[in-house]
Amino acid sequence: MKTTLSFDDVLLVPKYSDIISRAEIDISSGFAGKRYDLPIISSPMDTVTESSMAISMSERGALGIIHRYSSVEEQTSLTRQVSVTSGRAAAAVGVTGDFEDRATALYDAGARILCIDVAHGHHILVKRALKKLRDIFGEDITLIAGNVASAQAFSDLESWGADAIRVGIGGGSICSTRIQTGHGTPTFQSVLDCGQARQSAKIIADGGIRTAGDMVKAIAAGADFVMLGSLLAGTDESPGSVFIDNNTKKYKVYRGMASRAAQQDWRGRVSSLEGITTTIPYKGPVDFILTDLAQNIRSGFSYSGARTIKELRDSCKFIRQTPSGTFESGTHILEPR
Ligand code: XMP
Repeated sequence: MKTTLSFDDVLLVPKYSDIISRAEIDISSGFAGKRYDLPIISSPMDTVTESSMAISMSERGALGIIHRYSSVEEQTSLTRQVSVTSGRAAAAVGVTGDFEDRATALYDAGARILCIDVAHGHHILVKRALKKLRDIFGEDITLIAGNVASAQAFSDLESWGADAIRVGIGGGSICSTRIQTGHGTPTFQSVLDCGQARQSAKIIADGGIRTAGDMVKAIAAGADFVMLGSLLAGTDESPGSVFIDNNTKKYKVYRGMASRAAQQDWRGRVSSLEGITTTIPYKGPVDFILTDLAQNIRSGFSYSGARTIKELRDSCKFIRQTPSGTFESGTHILEPR
């Protein structure tokens, strides 16, 4: 039986660096004929990405994918707002029902990146959807598909025509897939495995990314982008209202798309429950979060002496840490009383 590793099981060994300033470090990532200054994608979830988030992401050189949990008209209208302001919109579709009509309406609204967004991407319906969308739009669109957890699944989606693949099953902060179904793989391990299998498709590490340190580890392991849910939820740009708890703390709702509340809202019934609803402290403008993350990712690159993603991947050295190493890696001051 294979032993798998998660973000907290590994560290990057600091290496000699001749980088004088973090400004020398370029963390940009190429995708769909464009360079993104920040290798970050906001998740197509109904408490993370609608037009306001996608526009802010685009202004920072990152990407937001408009979620699919609304009517075709609503999603199309949100997508149109993004493609008039940012020139390039990305939107999610499913694999059944109205997905072809939805994809066509989104294309007409300016979407040139479509994300086939299902929980288990290594699936015949995803294969058919990739073929169908490629037949309709040809090379005019970039196709993201997922999610997958293994090298075999990654290679299959690549051969079915996916340009980028979301890697990670069951690792998200609001996911209960592993609890409910017994299936999944630690996201870090999936990224590592898919990175070794990759021929050409971009890797989007997705689920369980909590810190800039996790992002640096994911990129070093092979990810071209990281996809974020909880880190971007609770901001001004995430959908939903700000609530005030006991007249003091502000918060917003963040929920898995397979949670009871989300399923009830978007399809009026609940089938398999694989997510939860929670609250996230209100964080203010997403720009603050992105600025912090960008600075910390650059710092991470400098510890490996790397000026680009390629240099980081070529030169980085991972080590496995013991549980006491993981403990030491967290803040752990003892407070004698
Ligand atoms: P983070 O950790 O960034 O994770 O909050 C966001 C990712 O979680 C996935 N996602 C789900 N997975 N049940 C799941 O098992 C769900 O209800 C659910 N909703 C979202 C998705 O990949 C997202 O980007």
